[in-house]
Amino acid sequence: MTAIEMRLLPRTASVDSSGALSIGGVAVADIAAQFGTPSFIYDEQHLRETCREAVAAFGADRVIYATKAFINTAMVKLAHEEGLLLDVATGGELFVALNAGVPANRCVLHGNNKSVEELRTAMEAGLRHIVVDSFDEIERIERLHAEGLSAPRVQLRITPGLHVETHDYVSTGQDDSKFGFNLNNGDAHRAVKRARASSAMDLVGIHCHIGSNVVTVANFEDAWRVMVDLFTPLSLSEITLGGGLGVAYTATDVAPTMQEWADVLKRATTALPAGTAVYVEPGRSIVAAAAISLYSVGTVKPIEGIRTYVAVDGGMSDNPRPMMYGSEYEAFDPQRMTAPRNNRARIVGKHCESGDILIFDAPIAADVKVGDLLALPVTGAYGYSMASNYNKVPRPAVVFVANGVARLVTRRETFEDLVRLDV
Ligand code: LLP
Repeated sequence: MTAIEMRLLPRTASVDSSGALSIGGVAVADIAAQFGTPSFIYDEQHLRETCREAVAAFGADRVIYATKAFINTAMVKLAHEEGLLLDVATGGELFVALNAGVPANRCVLHGNNKSVEELRTAMEAGLRHIVVDSFDEIERIERLHAEGLSAPRVQLRITPGLHVETHDYVSTGQDDSKFGFNLNNGDAHRAVKRARASSAMDLVGIHCHIGSNVVTVANFEDAWRVMVDLFTPLSLSEITLGGGLGVAYTATDVAPTMQEWADVLKRATTALPAGTAVYVEPGRSIVAAAAISLYSVGTVKPIEGIRTYVAVDGGMSDNPRPMMYGSEYEAFDPQRMTAPRNNRARIVGKHCESGDILIFDAPIAADVKVGDLLALPVTGAYGYSMASNYNKVPRPAVVFVANGVARLVTRRETFEDLVRLDV
């Protein structure tokens, strides 16, 4: 097996004559020496470029970055600076955005079970809009309005009743879903009627999110046509056409580009009344390929006739996607980028579970040894944001690199952090 494909790496990745990888002009080995491992290393230029491409493809103030994919103070600031709106799905995500100085009217609140407190905060702060998910939520907003809070702008989340080709856990547009108002059983129309009649909210639009990591453009087109048909007779002014654009994780994966995704949207929305505001809500496609996660190899265990296990200093606590969805990744040694990966190994973490597997059967350098660095590309989305402290493993550091400078944007947790909530 050949070396890792450059298309899977952050865009400023470069390899010197000795085969060592740099990102943003900084040698990855130096980043490991300075900040330790495991660490998530983000290419800031890559992040800014994907934000800009999205704005160029969909228009100013039409791209809502789904912060759940990767959120910390530096990231919400960056997305805001690049002109993206922010999708926050909980009070916690909203807090991070507001705390970073992002204006409330640049944030949109999501969630299938928003608490009264989350709604109160959103209504008091004056978010751009709230995506309402249930009749219970309509009642909660009405109660808060009755207490004196201003009527928020709302979009209604609609479940268009379509199944998309992705993992069942991240498919959200089918009838059997906890999200949104069901179109096929009439709930969607009932919700529109109900919200329209309510003085507690200003119904401005409808919303759908059909699933995540979708790579089949026909899935978007089918769902969006259903949404456009629903929207047209309603005389509303805004529509959010969601469903997350998938990305290539491995050499065999292919995914549409941002522009190809925008072309699908254009085709599906030609019938919309002029002046309709059409939003999209990408998360993964903005951040996934911008980062690598960097580990150190701690144990190499060849089991004759079975396989070799290569254990790194993190695992399911920092990259849970392989364990949760069976997601596939690649691995490489950032100090030997040009070396053939002509051996195979199972890449595992340090947790007390057999299922703590990052890669089932990875092509890897034949002479991998203790102390080597090992990197997983395309781990910028739903890695750090879903990280846990299982086995009391401290969460990794997050480093942004740009123009020859590596800066720590979220520090590594310490052992003291692991007991700071205990009373
Ligand atoms: N908008 C809404 C309402 C969403 O629920 C999501 C993702 C997005 C936007 C962003 O979708 P994206 O562009 O990232 O596909 N943890 C899973 C993904 C869960 C996605 C949840 N919602 C994973 O690692 O694959």
